[in-house]
Amino acid sequence: MKVGFPSRPNAREHSTGNTEINTEMKILGISAHYHDSAAALVVDGVPVCAVQEERLSRHKGDAAFPLLAIEWCLDHAGIESDELDAVVFYERPMLKFDRILTCALRAFPQSWRTFPQAMRNSLGEKVWIRGIISSHLGVPGRKILFTEHHQSHAATAFLTAPTQRAAILTADAVGEWATLSVGTGERLPHGATTIRSLREIRFPHSLGMLYSTFTAYLGFKVNEGEYKVMGLAAYGQPTLVEQVRKLIRRTPDGGFALDLDYFEFHTTAKRSYSSRFVELFGAPRNPYEPIDFDTTEGQRFADCAASVQQVLEDTLVDMARALHQETGLPDLCLGGGVALNGVANTRILNESGFERVFVPPAPGDGGCAVGAALYADRIHFGNPDREIPDHPFWGPPVDGVELARLAREDGRFVEEVEEGALVNQIADDLAAGRVVGWMDGALELGPRALGHRSILAAPHAADMRDRLNHEIKYRESFRPFAPVVPIEVADRYFDLPPGGTRLARFMSGVFPVRHEWQSRLQAIIHVDGTARLQALEPDMAPRLHALLEAYGRRSGIPVLLNTSFNLAGEPIVNRAVEGYSTFLRCGIDVLVAGQTRVIKRASPTAKLKEEIACSKGVAGPDVD
Ligand SMILES: [Fe+2]
Repeated sequence: MKVGFPSRPNAREHSTGNTEINTEMKILGISAHYHDSAAALVVDGVPVCAVQEERLSRHKGDAAFPLLAIEWCLDHAGIESDELDAVVFYERPMLKFDRILTCALRAFPQSWRTFPQAMRNSLGEKVWIRGIISSHLGVPGRKILFTEHHQSHAATAFLTAPTQRAAILTADAVGEWATLSVGTGERLPHGATTIRSLREIRFPHSLGMLYSTFTAYLGFKVNEGEYKVMGLAAYGQPTLVEQVRKLIRRTPDGGFALDLDYFEFHTTAKRSYSSRFVELFGAPRNPYEPIDFDTTEGQRFADCAASVQQVLEDTLVDMARALHQETGLPDLCLGGGVALNGVANTRILNESGFERVFVPPAPGDGGCAVGAALYADRIHFGNPDREIPDHPFWGPPVDGVELARLAREDGRFVEEVEEGALVNQIADDLAAGRVVGWMDGALELGPRALGHRSILAAPHAADMRDRLNHEIKYRESFRPFAPVVPIEVADRYFDLPPGGTRLARFMSGVFPVRHEWQSRLQAIIHVDGTARLQALEPDMAPRLHALLEAYGRRSGIPVLLNTSFNLAGEPIVNRAVEGYSTFLRCGIDVLVAGQTRVIKRASPTAKLKEEIACSKGVAGPDVD
């Protein structure tokens, strides 16, 4: 097996030279069976819709074949499956099976217990994906295409970014064999597209697996808890960097290799770290016990997080710097789940030499549905380049009328308000300290709420952060909340380097809060003085932008706390009914969808009590 970063004798170059162009092609992209399944539809070279299966099935991280997502995409676009020109799966199942089989055989006899399960998992529908697609959609096998996993990540990152030429770096846990790839992308003047893979690092040597091993060791759920490790890192010191460096060594060719003695993820699904890992770092954290930073144990876990975070950042910065020197290009497109690490992204922007760093709103596997479809369109079919709308809102729209009906049926206080008045009313709510569930337009693709399915609140006092953590999100108190700010004034409140607003477009970077504003932005500032802000352009989410301005006129600071509209363990809400259900089950005070505003002063009895209380000169309850 290759380790490190071997140069590949046949550096792959995929380019379009085809002059027969079908400008009306309808291509369905699918990602499934690892985590975060999704479907996306590309028509005439442009995405028209995309959605993750979890948002429809309501099963967080749903990895099932995304039938609901496919059905919604086809319905939304008004096309039948037999009208599709191609269905593209985001990885090559047989290559993945080859990796699983090879690793299981290599690990024998340690793997003998898990081997049957691994084979069952792989030999199920995961391998026979062509048949699954064909039988579900009635699409003939010849129309079903496959891209490599990291090609899909690269296409998502490059083809959705507003750049003509860029270096591309993708990194995740693992696809088929690749765990990290570097290359370049170019949209040529005559309309053709090239995506060139220069090198890749292969399983089991993986930055994503290194980080997720620490995620598991620190008691968090792999593929979900990586955010928590990044948040925890700010509470620690990188005192264990030398120990982490025993786990990953840099290779002379600029790559890296893991010391597999410290890991078990490549031999068993039961545990990702080995006994030797535990000897080096101490006992793993019990997931059911809270982290207390006042104890030696709690500080050790924070230091572990800080140390692996630093090693991850150092490695990525180093590799990005080498890629910049090699390509001489000013732009870098980042893809793969590792690109969700905003702290690392910011260091790459600041230290690698690239002037602009683009991270798509869904750099992980969910976004690969878009990338796979675009890759097939541009590379396989050779269709001309098209400008891709630069936003994350590809999912189902929300229906304010539905919300009004639901709330009225429950006797809630419902207002249907004209647009300008609504924005002002919500700004008043926020200024009065109310927490707002905000639903607007089409659902975001990707893990972040970027203005269409958000919980919004005043960002000023630490009390608000604690209230959101304890009454609404029910999550660990060490996790920070993010702010949203109009792009025009982002630099006033946050210390942004050149290129920083681009990275902040989809909340992909972490930047210092300016010192003079820190005391007035306590709810969104992390313990290290930073924030993972979204710098919002008016065109991207006009209503939220208007709300920020209206709130700024009231508070003097046009910044809001913006966190995803979901409760712990649940996917981000999609339809009005899910927003309404979430609203009822937590401490959100006001819910908005379309022109509808609902508040929790609901039942006629409660309203009557309040009116009686008011008539007696006693302040009535604001919420029930
Ligand atoms: Fe991936």
